[in-house]
Amino acid sequence: MTTKRKQKPDVVNQYTGNSWAYSKEVREHFFKPKNLLWENPKSATKYDAQGIVGSPACGDVMRVWLKIDGKKDKITDFKWRTFGCASAIAATSMLSVMVTEKDGMGIEKALKIRPQDIIKRLHGLPDRKIHCSVLGDKALRAALNDWFKKTGQFDRVIVEGTRIIDPNTKVTEADIEEAVLEGATTLEAVQKKTKVGIGYPECIHTVEELIRFYREKYFGPDSK
Ligand code: FES
Repeated sequence: MTTKRKQKPDVVNQYTGNSWAYSKEVREHFFKPKNLLWENPKSATKYDAQGIVGSPACGDVMRVWLKIDGKKDKITDFKWRTFGCASAIAATSMLSVMVTEKDGMGIEKALKIRPQDIIKRLHGLPDRKIHCSVLGDKALRAALNDWFKKTGQFDRVIVEGTRIIDPNTKVTEADIEEAVLEGATTLEAVQKKTKVGIGYPECIHTVEELIRFYREKYFGPDSK
């Protein structure tokens, strides 16, 4: 999704001439991020759970710290810190607001937040920046896993897709997800990036289903 507003581009690629503009909401959350920590917390016990993830697409890193009301099964505080770009900062800032507004959000509801929900509240992000918006969400899941493990709720631990799809190239479901996040939304484009299915055509049907699933998840139901 790209913002439709007519405005001067914020970014121009000096080599390709491609450009894009950020919405007013993205700028607001980038220039004045909410719930951001400038330093890691001095005491690990100040928060109930923490998560850290890196983006395979760009190498950037995101950390999230949570306070959790175990009795109400609800997140009451969400702090974060990143070495990510403007889109990662704006999207995580918005996610932290969504999770903590109205006295905090139930854990199950927070787990259902999709990147599209964040992007909608930001009034759009350039498609090439969708993978940045996912970083905060992944760090939130990592922090919730930390909480589930600390509190012995092992049945709630989320296991992300590491299933091997192509035994020849060892391409996993997570590799396909990352390829889609980087903008490869057709079988040809995913094969160009990962070589999946080239020597093992039996997996092509599964690959196509996964591309469709992740394309809809990250770019919306009408995406092609
Ligand atoms: S390019 Fe790395 S988080 Fe956006």
